[in-house]
Amino acid sequence: EEKISQLTDEVKRLKTERNALILAHVYQRPEVQEVADIIGDSLELSRRAAATDAEVIVFCGVHFMAESAAILSPDKIVLLPEENAGCPMADMVTAEELRAKKREIPNAVVVAYVNTSAEVKAECDICCTSANAVKIVQSIPEDKPIIFIPDKNLGSYVANKTGRAMTLWEGWCNTHDWVTPEEVRKAKEEHPNALVLIHPECRPEVVALADYVSSTTGLIKYAKESDAKEFIVGTEAGIMHQLYKQCPDKDFYLATRRLVCPNMKATTLEKVKQALETMQPQITVSPDIRQKALVSLEKMLAVK
Ligand code: 13P
Ligand code: SF4
Repeated sequence: EEKISQLTDEVKRLKTERNALILAHVYQRPEVQEVADIIGDSLELSRRAAATDAEVIVFCGVHFMAESAAILSPDKIVLLPEENAGCPMADMVTAEELRAKKREIPNAVVVAYVNTSAEVKAECDICCTSANAVKIVQSIPEDKPIIFIPDKNLGSYVANKTGRAMTLWEGWCNTHDWVTPEEVRKAKEEHPNALVLIHPECRPEVVALADYVSSTTGLIKYAKESDAKEFIVGTEAGIMHQLYKQCPDKDFYLATRRLVCPNMKATTLEKVKQALETMQPQITVSPDIRQKALVSLEKMLAVK
């Protein structure tokens, strides 16, 4: 406890000294969320990274998020406190594999979930996050075939919602894909009055049991505005900190204890401090890849 409060003070001091903005995804550790200037889902964090005038962005999240910030803000120093914090789903598609798929369906529009590398973003037509995926797909002319990468679960959710046939990629999030319908049913039996909140990275059988499906920020907003007092939560455990903070009079039950993303938990307060001290590890993207990836990210941000 004492260590955390001491580290918190040091991070805050260094943050001012460096003119840095700390962005944290809602899956981050509670103490990391507490030092952040902005806490949000992937979409909000990209928007903020694009808009800030801070000189330094400390991205408390995973590699693809910091990379997106570097693409959107090339003049800024982007730090990822734990360099090895990756996203296993993002690693399930390479630029080369995508190029091969594009050759199979040459007139297809490629929609890439932001959980992809900069090289893959450079090969796609438009990006999306879980918060805007439905709108992004709806923005594509109906006569165009769509390749959706890399999350087959988000892809099938969006295909269902929009009625669009899409070629899905064989990719998934190890954390969300772990949740089984049995676990959700059991949680419902234990908490019969609870509403079920599910992230679309969960399997279709789990999504089918949801009262509400949305990105992390969408789930928090729904819990806040709902009349219900209890909720079963089908997304990464870090969200519990914001749910309890923003809805102190409500109860939340994680659908399963396995809903933990080790990569999101790899960033500690100590590492945030070290990053601000040493200005390392910095995330950069080569100019040619950056130019192309930027087009896909900006197209996404322009869809309202
Ligand atoms: P959102 O924050 O967009 O809901 O995404 C969840 C996620 O898994 C990010 O890695
Ligand atoms: Fe990737 Fe899943 Fe972790 Fe998000 S929760 S960073 S999608 S592995």
